[in-house]
Amino acid sequence: MIQVAGIDELRHHVATARNAGQTVALVPTMGCLHRGHRSLFAVARRQSDFVVVSIFVNPLQFGPTEDFDRYPRTPEDDAAICRKEGVALLFSPEPETMYAPDHSVVVEETSLSRGLCGAHRSGHFRGVTTVVAKLFNIVQPDIAVFGQKDAQQTAIIRRMVRDLNIPVRIVAAPTIRESDGLALSSRNRLLDHDTRRRATVIHHSLCAALESYRRGERDAGRIRRDIVSRIEEQPSFSVEYAAAIDAGTLEPVSRLRSNVLLAVAVRTGNVRLIDNVSIA
Ligand code: PAJ
Repeated sequence: MIQVAGIDELRHHVATARNAGQTVALVPTMGCLHRGHRSLFAVARRQSDFVVVSIFVNPLQFGPTEDFDRYPRTPEDDAAICRKEGVALLFSPEPETMYAPDHSVVVEETSLSRGLCGAHRSGHFRGVTTVVAKLFNIVQPDIAVFGQKDAQQTAIIRRMVRDLNIPVRIVAAPTIRESDGLALSSRNRLLDHDTRRRATVIHHSLCAALESYRRGERDAGRIRRDIVSRIEEQPSFSVEYAAAIDAGTLEPVSRLRSNVLLAVAVRTGNVRLIDNVSIA
C-alpha cells in the first residue's frame, strides 16, 4: 500500500494507476477506522481497481464547542486496516496541506443541510462539502463511497455533485452495526462502559418504530414521540431530534410510507450519536 501526505505525490500515483487503465475509487474518512469504514472499502474494491482512502480530521466541519481535539486518532491501526482491506493508496494530509492560512472559498449546500444535524451543528455541512469537494478535485475519482449511517451527509454530497457537475458517481453503503444493534461510530469509544451498554436503546427505539409501522401505525408524530420517550427513559440520554423524513428530499413527512427514513440524534454526556433506519 502506498501512503502519502502530499497532493503532488498523490496525483502522481493516481495518474500512474489511470495510465495503466485502472478505475479509481475514493473513500473519504476521518480515521479511527472500524468495520463500518471497512465495509465501504470493500464496496469500493468491488466497483473499482484502485482504492484511495483519505484520513483527515477536517477542522472546518467542527464547531468551536465540538470535539475536534477529542476526536479519536489511531493512525497506526488505521494504516494496518487499510493494508489488510486491499486499499491501494492511503492519503493522510496535514491541515496545512488542505487549507492555506488565508483560504477563503467554501462550498455550501443551502437546502438539505438546513434541518436535522444542520440545525444543531452550525457550519458543519459547509465544512463537509468544502473538504469533500477538495478531495474530489485532488483525487478525481470515478466513484466515491459514503455510508447510509450519515444519510443527510450522503444526500448533501449527492446534491453537491449534481449541482456542481462534479464527474463522480456517489455510491451509498448500508450501516454496519455491533451485534447489539449500535451503529458503529468512531465516537462510540468515547462512551464509558455503562453508557455504551445503554446506547443500544437508540437502535432499539428505531426498530420498535418499524415494528409499529408493520402493525399499521402511520402517524409520524406518534412514532417520533415513542422514539423520544423510549430513548429518554435512559438516564443521561437526551434526543436532539427524532424525525420522519423523505429519503430523497429529507423533508419531514406526517404520514409514514415506504422511502421514509426515521432518523435520530442523541446526546449522552458530551457524546453525540446519530442513527437512522429506512421504511422499505
Ligand atoms: P467518518 O465519520 O470517518 O465517516 C467516513 C464514512 O464512513 C462516511 O461516509 C460514513 O457515513 C461512513 N460510516 C461511518 N460509520 C459507518 C457505519 N457504522 N456503517 C457504514 N458506514 C459508516 O463522515 C465523515 O467521516 C466526514 O464527514 C467526511 C465525509 C470524511 C468528510 O470529512
